[in-house]
Amino acid sequence: MKVLLIGSGSREHAIADALARSVHEPKIFAVMSNRNPGIIRICESTGGEYFIGKITDPQFVREIGERVSPDFAFIGPEEPQFHGVSDALEEAGIPCVGAREKLSEIERSKAFMRRLMWKYRIPGRLRFKAFKNVEEAIAYIKEYAESIALKPARQAGGKGVKVIADIQAYLRRERTEVKEKHAKKIYEEHMKPYDDIEDKILIEEKVDGPEYTLQCFTDGRTVLPLPLVQDNKNAFEMDIGPETGGMGSISGKGFLLPFIEEDEFRESVKIVESVVRALEKEFGMRYHGVISGQMMLTALWGPTIIEFYSRFGDPEGVNVLPILKTDLVEISEAVISEKLHKMKIEVEEKATVVKAIAPQGYPNRRDLAKGHPIAVDERAIEEQGARVFYGSVNVDNGRLITGGSRAVEIFACAETIEEASKIVDKCVKYVRCLDGWGLFYRSDIGSSTLLHRRMELAELVRNVYRYRRSKGIIGIKIDWIPGVGKIVYES
Ligand SMILES: Nc1ncnc2c1ncn2[C@@H]1O[C@H](COP(=O)(O)OP(=O)(O)OP(=O)(O)O)[C@@H](O)[C@H]1O
Ligand SMILES: [Mg+2]
Repeated sequence: MKVLLIGSGSREHAIADALARSVHEPKIFAVMSNRNPGIIRICESTGGEYFIGKITDPQFVREIGERVSPDFAFIGPEEPQFHGVSDALEEAGIPCVGAREKLSEIERSKAFMRRLMWKYRIPGRLRFKAFKNVEEAIAYIKEYAESIALKPARQAGGKGVKVIADIQAYLRRERTEVKEKHAKKIYEEHMKPYDDIEDKILIEEKVDGPEYTLQCFTDGRTVLPLPLVQDNKNAFEMDIGPETGGMGSISGKGFLLPFIEEDEFRESVKIVESVVRALEKEFGMRYHGVISGQMMLTALWGPTIIEFYSRFGDPEGVNVLPILKTDLVEISEAVISEKLHKMKIEVEEKATVVKAIAPQGYPNRRDLAKGHPIAVDERAIEEQGARVFYGSVNVDNGRLITGGSRAVEIFACAETIEEASKIVDKCVKYVRCLDGWGLFYRSDIGSSTLLHRRMELAELVRNVYRYRRSKGIIGIKIDWIPGVGKIVYES
């Protein structure tokens, strides 16, 4: 059996590893944009091969697909999906685990996602406005003083989101200026590289609460969830510093997180199911692949959608794939043949922690973070009971050179999140930069201090949304204007 994997990050390393564990002993072939040492090793040890090139070019990937002739392809990242790589492979007779271009719109366009949730009245939706040009966005900003999230309307590689609270009335002018400036920046900078969607700027109502990711397999008919994961986006300890692609993530023993309860998990799955059904109605085709809700527990709804991924999260995928007991080849075949209802997802009963190690300069000065030689003592890390998944590194003449983003991710599992976190911390010293440049990571991810902060926040919003539910005003925003009365925003 042969499997073709598209992508070259740590998420894809974890996918390759899970595929290679299959009883069907597949040969792994990979199409990568850089030489990921972990994936290369798996290709070689399983008798497969790897190819380097533009993974977003459907023609290129299709040619490789035709040459390899795999049983199926597994598409790791979102951009190849946005560019129609699944469509090109399927046209060539190669079935894919990975959304078709049209269906991947659920991640590519945050404006489309919001419209879809409103059209089908799916719970967990937020009020929003999408703008095709900057002038209209600014006119709106000038008129309404609101707490908002200002975003590029497209998935823009995790860049360009600004959340602005509107609290002090005397700062209204300054705040409006900040919003205007940022709207311009989104239009002129973050949306500049993309001409594949008409909407440019998205304004959403601001919500608060702990965030979590729900990753699911789907064949378009059945949605099978994996354990919940929480990612930590800020670069530095205690949630300080710029937003990154994710500095590390945790999952609890079983399917829940310490701050998300069983009924909240089930509701989150229902939201994903409703979206998968809505996508079939919109496009007349079934979603074959991984779909993930990036969620927040809010006072407005309880489980609420911030955005969707048409793939595993990174690092979130690296939490769940190593503990997946169900055979990933069999899951993939069930996705393709739409027989997922016959599968059961089983995972090891362990809590997991993943932490990314990144070169100084990441995320804002990737030019400085790039090009440094690093050494990874994998054996020492394994002796501690942890594992390495390679991310933004390139094998160059036998040396490992950083690519400017998170270089490696270290995974550990244990009885508790705190224990797994400590195991990872012991391993960090085994990743070294050889030219004196600095590397950084977050020791606090998975610590009891941070867990307690999340639990307290969850309890606060849980009290409010349950109260709302008891009063029949879930998802409804109510304002009071003196002399005018109650204004209810329908949802
Ligand atoms: N409506 C909102 N209210 C409050 N906070 C929000 C809202 N939308 C986004 N955020 C915050 O901003 C972060 C980034 O937003 P979002 O996930 O939409 O963008 P992104 O750039 O695609 O992020 P990434 O790719 O890093 O996940 C969220 O994780 C959340 O913390
Ligand atoms: Mg996000």
